[in-house]
Amino acid sequence: MRRPIIAGNWKMNNTASAGVALVEALKPLVKDANCDVAVCVPAIDIPAVAEALKGSNVALGAQNVHFEAKGAFTGEISADMLKEYGVKYVIIGHSERRQYFGETDETVNKRTLAALNAGLIPIVCIGESLEERETGKTEAVLETQIKEGMKGIDDISKIVIAYEPIWAIGTGRTATAEQANETIAFIRKTCAEVFCPKCAEKVRIQYGGSMNAGNCKELMAMPEIDGGLIGGASLKAPDFSAIVNFDK
Ligand code: PGA
Repeated sequence: MRRPIIAGNWKMNNTASAGVALVEALKPLVKDANCDVAVCVPAIDIPAVAEALKGSNVALGAQNVHFEAKGAFTGEISADMLKEYGVKYVIIGHSERRQYFGETDETVNKRTLAALNAGLIPIVCIGESLEERETGKTEAVLETQIKEGMKGIDDISKIVIAYEPIWAIGTGRTATAEQANETIAFIRKTCAEVFCPKCAEKVRIQYGGSMNAGNCKELMAMPEIDGGLIGGASLKAPDFSAIVNFDK
């Protein structure tokens, strides 16, 4: 019932020309995908990559968006600026932004509402640290991130949620499929309580954290996991396409 979505998060990798080369290699490999496919690219790559993706089934995503429409916010990028290039998705609240750039549930919330208002689809990232998992705080942390970061969203199924345990990001240490499924089930249950049961059934929840060609099948076979947010493995066309084609 929920269409899976596999999104690449290039992070701060690929100049515009390298990005174009990557999507040119990727397009033929994913053209028959049975899921939604997106690449979330550095802002400055957007114009060139948008052009290269024209007519393909790969959608374009950004990695952040400011919450104000315009004004004196040096270094920031507005939703309208993204929209003009056909950007469809925007990652919000990635753990790296929370850790290194002072992102909080409050700013995540403001960015998410601004993106929705502008007609972008936010991919809102949540997840616990290793210490939080080991001290039994995972559910409390996720609950706060949902209640605060997603406050005021009228229909939660309009966003995509990425569950990314911080300890699994870029570490090669994946959550087991059972762990990921169980935690995503908790996220869905919380969404049902905080928002509405119907929207919670519909909202797509990705897993992210060292997902690759080798483990994607097992993760994607889990009933609660509706896709992946892929970092390292999205930087090579064969690796990323193998995940996109997880069902083949
Ligand atoms: P990774 O990154 O796949 O390299 O672990 C995932 C992410 O941070 O979105």
